[in-house]
Amino acid sequence: MKATARAHTNIALIKYWGKRDEQLFLPMNNSISITLDRFYTTTSVTFRDDLQADVFVLDGKELGGDELGKISRFLDLVRRTANYRGFAIVDSLNDVPTAAGFASSASGFAALAAASTKALGFDISNEGLSILARQGSGSASRSIYGGYAEWHKGVRQDGTDSFATQIMPESFWDLSVLSVMVEAKQKKVLSREGMRRTVETSPFYTGWLDSLESDLSSAREAIHTQDFERLGTVLERNAMKMHATTLGAQPPFLYWTGATIDVMQAVQEMRENGILAYFTIDAGPNVKVICQPADEDVVKMRLLQLECVRNIFPCHPGPGIQYLNT
Ligand code: ADP
Ligand code: DP6
Ligand code: CO
Repeated sequence: MKATARAHTNIALIKYWGKRDEQLFLPMNNSISITLDRFYTTTSVTFRDDLQADVFVLDGKELGGDELGKISRFLDLVRRTANYRGFAIVDSLNDVPTAAGFASSASGFAALAAASTKALGFDISNEGLSILARQGSGSASRSIYGGYAEWHKGVRQDGTDSFATQIMPESFWDLSVLSVMVEAKQKKVLSREGMRRTVETSPFYTGWLDSLESDLSSAREAIHTQDFERLGTVLERNAMKMHATTLGAQPPFLYWTGATIDVMQAVQEMRENGILAYFTIDAGPNVKVICQPADEDVVKMRLLQLECVRNIFPCHPGPGIQYLNT
């Protein structure tokens, strides 16, 4: 009745931005990501017949309210499938900043999906785990796999064909993803709220959807052929288009700060000087800079010269779900 699992975060190269079904976490578009070795969540789940309610401990602190609500709602899905009525103690450790745009929701729900199903003795496929993790946080569907993954939006209304698959394992192609921290604070507009507001009110959202198929096929091909320049070009442009949609929302919003723009400009300047580096940004001010491993040190040194940069975490493609012995 107890199991422990670890899942790594992932960074989207082609972003998931917008839901067509909020209850089932069905996305408007496919997305493509790299799972990262440096950031992960380790979660233990213990189901017990003597508990009156679920308990959620994150980094040693017991959480209630909305945070506990999200966990209980997720465990209900697992309980329903297993036909089990008891509650659980969820004890989780984030080796990643929480809710700061470093994808803690992806590693968090992927680890919870794996640990909770294992604790109840499920025999579940990776696709099944991806479908389950998706219903905690969309980006978690991709963290089941190591390396490069694609979350297929699916066409069915019940979500049974909306899951991620691996494009290539982590050993296929080593890239450097420098997670550049300019701020460690939790974001003001959570991803969930930001994408909802954009889908509902931004006139630019249709533009986002129109060019997605082309971005997806460029990214897939660039991964298969290890064409770094092609991948970098499409991932940076895709991130720019995602953030452009937020400016048209009502009320409008922007995840960037001045520091975000300083990092973006430094990356574009490096390119003018012949260093192939590209950026992507999620729902927060921090920037992820992607380059080839041979350029990692030069890129890192250059970015550390910026006054606004607090810390840089160099990441590489990392593994999928792991079960730990306790
Ligand atoms: P992030 O950029 O970190 O993914 P989000 O706004 O997408 O930020 O998600 C943050 C939310 O993810 C938290 O409010 C919490 O509900 C959930 N989360 C973070 N860490 C964990 C964890 N270890 N286990 C379960 N849920 C988690
Ligand atoms: C910008 O998966 O965090 O990082 O499904 O509502 O939990 P919910 O949102 P989340 O959204 C991630 C948005 C993104 C892009 C991406 O990771 O694909
Ligand atoms: Co998230």
